[in-house]
Amino acid sequence: MNKELILQQTAAYVEAILSDDSSGHDWWHIQRVWKNAVHIGQQEGADLFIVELAALLHDIDDYKLGKGNATDEPLAAKKWLVQSGVEPTIIFQVLDIIKGLSFKGAKVDTTLTTKEGMVVQDADRLDAIGAIGIGRAFAYGGHKGRAIYDPAIRPQQHDSFEAYKKNTGPTINHFYEKLLLLKDLMNTKTARRIAQDRHEFMEQFLDRFLMEWEGEDSLG
Ligand code: ADP
Ligand code: NI
Repeated sequence: MNKELILQQTAAYVEAILSDDSSGHDWWHIQRVWKNAVHIGQQEGADLFIVELAALLHDIDDYKLGKGNATDEPLAAKKWLVQSGVEPTIIFQVLDIIKGLSFKGAKVDTTLTTKEGMVVQDADRLDAIGAIGIGRAFAYGGHKGRAIYDPAIRPQQHDSFEAYKKNTGPTINHFYEKLLLLKDLMNTKTARRIAQDRHEFMEQFLDRFLMEWEGEDSLG
């Protein structure tokens, strides 16, 4: 198994699939998750081949892109790994990570048990917060035809994945339903440190957003 070649070919395969995505799950998202996953994985002493394959393939079967259900077997990823000649034990571990990665509601436990899974989950979640996370949230909201904000619709703490998926609330609510919770859900020390800073930036953004919404501005 030539690991370098497999990673290179996997990157090219994923880039071809996600290059024209406009929901915030584009190839640039994958590249950032890939890079951050390697960085965190090195700090944590994780198996980087597994980490990199899972990071690269984690969104090609995503339910949010209209592909099946989050708990389904990630079929495209599986087919690709088999076809690439990756060892069955590694395929099993990579698919396991992809299946368990996603956020499924404020009160739904999505803790992963392997070091590699924790690393990739942290890298994916770091890309959902901070300045990039803000940009991605509004891109996704627009893609799904959601309102930006509506004070009459209150954020909810979903206790099932079904309820979380059914939600069609405004994008600002998504900050309270997911994005502001991610800082405390980070698995690794490295990601927790990066998340703190990005979290504070989102809080500043929300303060400004609500202030401007009320019509108060710095001009007095
Ligand atoms: P996960 O699998 O944990 O959902 P992804 O890599 O698929 O992680 O990223 C989810 C992205 O989609 C986030 O950036 C998030 O802001 C955006 N997103 C998901 N649901 C919503 C929503 N209801 N409103 C706005 N953005 C959303
Ligand atoms: Ni992702």
